[in-house]
Amino acid sequence: MKTLSIRSRLINLLSISLIIVALASFCSIFIFLNYKVNKHFDNALMAEASNIINRLYVQRGQIQFIAPELSINLQTASGKGSVFYSIENEHKTVISGFESIPRPHFNKRMDNVVFYDAEYATEPIRALLMVHKMERNGVGYYATIIIAETLEDRHDMIQEIFLVISGVTCILIFIVVIVSLIAVNKGIEPLVNLQYFIKKRDINDLTPISEKNVPKEVLSLVESINQLFIKLKKSFSHIEHFNADVSHQLRTPLAELKVLIEMDEELKKGGHKNKYIKIIDTMSHTTQQLLMYAKTNPDAFDRVRFEPMNLTELCQRVASDKVLFFYQEGFEFEFDAIDATWINGGPIILESLINNLLDNALHYARTPEGKAIGVVILRVKKEDKRIILSVIDEGPGIEECYFDKVYERFFRLDTKTYGSGLGLGIVKQIALLHNATLFLSNGTPQGLRIDVSFPSLA
Ligand SMILES: Nc1ncnc2c1ncn2[C@@H]1O[C@H](COP(=O)(O)OP(=O)(O)O)[C@@H](O)[C@H]1O
Ligand SMILES: [Mg+2]
Repeated sequence: MKTLSIRSRLINLLSISLIIVALASFCSIFIFLNYKVNKHFDNALMAEASNIINRLYVQRGQIQFIAPELSINLQTASGKGSVFYSIENEHKTVISGFESIPRPHFNKRMDNVVFYDAEYATEPIRALLMVHKMERNGVGYYATIIIAETLEDRHDMIQEIFLVISGVTCILIFIVVIVSLIAVNKGIEPLVNLQYFIKKRDINDLTPISEKNVPKEVLSLVESINQLFIKLKKSFSHIEHFNADVSHQLRTPLAELKVLIEMDEELKKGGHKNKYIKIIDTMSHTTQQLLMYAKTNPDAFDRVRFEPMNLTELCQRVASDKVLFFYQEGFEFEFDAIDATWINGGPIILESLINNLLDNALHYARTPEGKAIGVVILRVKKEDKRIILSVIDEGPGIEECYFDKVYERFFRLDTKTYGSGLGLGIVKQIALLHNATLFLSNGTPQGLRIDVSFPSLA
């Protein structure tokens, strides 16, 4: 299931609240505006009605209306809508104006002034009914004035004000959205930074994360991660010490045993001495290889100890230590390297990588009878931004179908000779730790070539 990021959660929450607030404010603005505009226009209707009342008088027992300038169908101020009126006397006779203006059907109480909505000639109207009492010679006369207007002007005004308020509200919402987005981004910045920092660092880097400038909420997370790092570091170093102890404790009695066997005259006579010595050598070698295999496990190795180093110098040292063995065994040996090949690496484990490759050539570049074949070359060169270390021999090589298998631990093609099946596994782990790639190939007419390609520093 896909989980939402904190940013999306905050933005969703803010958007939902903003939409609700916006809708609520639009509704209340609209209701309030309707009320205010209607009140304003109703007041205007009231003023018109007063105008009419001022023109009413009683003559000969009859209500009269003087309005030479007042036509029965008036225009509103904007000229868009129309105003109608009717004046009735107490006998329900229309003295002036339209006869058929609808009356309110709810005015049971016969209030003096009633505002109401109705429909006149299929058009919605707002009307005012007013009963006006006049007195003449002690007799009361009642005039009913109805004044109505169509709704264009009210609608226009509501629309206009609503548009202006909505525009301003939209601009405000837009500003709030931008400010919220900036605030959300700023707020989660420490978390994003932490995520970036953890992502960027080497998976084997267990140095604590800096707690400087970390906000309170994130601090406890950083502290927990750092505590975890300390624990991991401790258990890695525990494993490392344990491995070293095991290897040392095993190698010492083996060395003693070897000396005893070499000095034992009885064994010399029996002719089994060399066989025993070979077994002890293999055991001692396997112990050492196991230690190196455990030590170079990419999940446990602390790459922080790596430093810029000249690979050529290291190869030169290893080659000068090894060259005598090659000559003794009947090989020719060639060291071919340019002066400076700078990489970021760990000299001790790289030495093991080179030794393993050279040992393999020493042991396997042989005829079935065990005779050394041809030349073994140790080469270091630079290609583009890579440093390539190659070990090339002229032995039987490895069938291509085993190229992937030979890196597996304890996998051996040749079980007759000495070995543990860990050498190329160690080589692969060390290469991985240096972000180096391994490439196996067979030479013509025969021979194995292993290229280890390191990222160059210079
Ligand atoms: N230079 C080589 N020429 C031929 N075969 C080789 C060479 N290097 C390694 N191999 C084969 O690959 C196998 C695995 O090598 P490695 O992992 O170093 O284990 P080990 O040397 O302990 O047997 C060896 O058993 C050997 O058969
Ligand atoms: Mg080997």
